[in-house]
Amino acid sequence: MTGARAVASTDAAAVKARLHVSPHPLVREKLTRLRDETTPPPEFRRLVHEIATLVLYEATADLALSERGIRTPLADWRGARLKEKVGLIPVLRAGIGMVEAAVALMPEAEVWHIGLFRDERTLRPIEYYNKLPSEATVQVCLVLDPMLATGGSAVATVDILKKWGARRVKYVGIIAAPEGARALSSAHPDVPIHVAALDDHLNEKGYIVPGLGDAGDRQFGTG
Ligand code: PRP
Ligand code: URA
Repeated sequence: MTGARAVASTDAAAVKARLHVSPHPLVREKLTRLRDETTPPPEFRRLVHEIATLVLYEATADLALSERGIRTPLADWRGARLKEKVGLIPVLRAGIGMVEAAVALMPEAEVWHIGLFRDERTLRPIEYYNKLPSEATVQVCLVLDPMLATGGSAVATVDILKKWGARRVKYVGIIAAPEGARALSSAHPDVPIHVAALDDHLNEKGYIVPGLGDAGDRQFGTG
């Protein structure tokens, strides 16, 4: 194998190690209905919520626990609580649809919104909302955004969180393009990527193919 080919295949192996695509049959089935162009916004939102729940369940499987003693009506019980404070970081707009699912699973998590949109011409993310306090208030951050396309928005969000002082960050989404998974993995190799599907490629406008179209527009009935 030549030097360049060897580096490329090592990179592919590294991305593969960080990318977790849900193998769950319920995710596959719900994602099919989500992608369907005839699915209207109310059903689309419900499906985003349900898929987010399932992907979050897998993405949080390694959260650390500490002991919490309680008493049941019958006996003492050495139970557990989440050891670290979790922050949920929905990326506006489309990430909003994943928040309720995350809060239902982790009611004590803090929710910090980041607003980014892609410049349609350059496809670069433009930040328009960020009210993070001066220092990190959580130990684990879960970035919530359904679409990892070029990866620009995800990389910018993780940059912001790391500057803020976040020690551990995970990306939780629905569909990734190979280009986005590579970009996030190369900029932030310590960030695991959890998604429902890895799609084929990006088209010339930066949309994921086959994808589902514009996740924000389809949730909110705009566009
Ligand atoms: C979408 C999506 C991501 C971004 C992904 O947001 O929710 O944030 O695109 O693309 P990237 O990986 O190429 O950066 P969009 O900019 O469409 O804004 P919206 O959620 O407000 O519709
Ligand atoms: N943002 C979306 O909502 N969909 C894509 O396919 C790419 C970026």
